[in-house]
Amino acid sequence: MARITSSVYTSHVPAIGAAIDLGKTGEPYWQPLFKGYEFSKQWMKEHTPDVIFLVYNDHATAFSLELIPTFAIGTAAEFKAADEGWGPRPVPNVIGHAELASHIAQSVIQDDFDLTIVNKMDVDHGLTVPLSLMCGQPKAWPCKVIPFAVNVVQYPVPSGRRCFMLGQAIRKAIESFDEPLNVQIWGTGGMSHQLQGPRAGLINREFDNNFLDRLIADPAGLASVPHIDYVREAGSEGIELVMWLIARGAMADINGGRPPRTTHRFYHVPASNTAVGHLILENPQ
Ligand code: DHB
Ligand code: FE
Repeated sequence: MARITSSVYTSHVPAIGAAIDLGKTGEPYWQPLFKGYEFSKQWMKEHTPDVIFLVYNDHATAFSLELIPTFAIGTAAEFKAADEGWGPRPVPNVIGHAELASHIAQSVIQDDFDLTIVNKMDVDHGLTVPLSLMCGQPKAWPCKVIPFAVNVVQYPVPSGRRCFMLGQAIRKAIESFDEPLNVQIWGTGGMSHQLQGPRAGLINREFDNNFLDRLIADPAGLASVPHIDYVREAGSEGIELVMWLIARGAMADINGGRPPRTTHRFYHVPASNTAVGHLILENPQ
């Protein structure tokens, strides 16, 4: 059977992708941020999975106000990097895992979560920047990736509670796939940031660090935080953090297993307008 070995959490910011693509990672502004991912890139080389189930949000790139799926699973064989206005990022295409994605769709939909099935989709910085942070600049991504897009852009957005429950259904789905695959689940986006309006530039270090603490040690309690608290405390785009609860809900301890090991924790302000948070949690073997 397939198994989930670890979960990875990281912010995404388009400027991080640009810094990597334009060779600016050593500049004084960026150096402290990328230093926080040096361990992660090495860890990723030593713990390359067969598949990453990558929870992210699309930023009106693949979807628009014409079509707003709350939860969308990418079942295609391949996904191209989106053109977000500056041309597509110079990164490899994402190779999907159509069989596992279809199996997850079957299992999760029968578990009462309505997923939108997407057979053609370009992927934006929400997906490619986390891959770049964790994998660097390879010719091909080191494993297959199942994109899982969550609407956190246009209200109404899903609650943290629902995201946490969905993570549990995803774990069950992955663990019932009849191939011995090593699967990682990633939760991306966040941390505190607001990109528009009078509060543009909002950062809340206390909220962010409390979120990291509770994601590790009290995920079920954290899942009950209502969406309005994210918006008030972490800014309008801070709501991206609910996606981390999908990945956390898929970890072994939520299903009666032992708590995960915190392999890496990193927090840095700022990257563009955003507070960057990053965790690697490993399930006990
Ligand atoms: C920024 C952050 C985001 O999450 C995003 O989607 C776009 C921009 C920023 O900090 O600039
Ligand atoms: Fe974003």
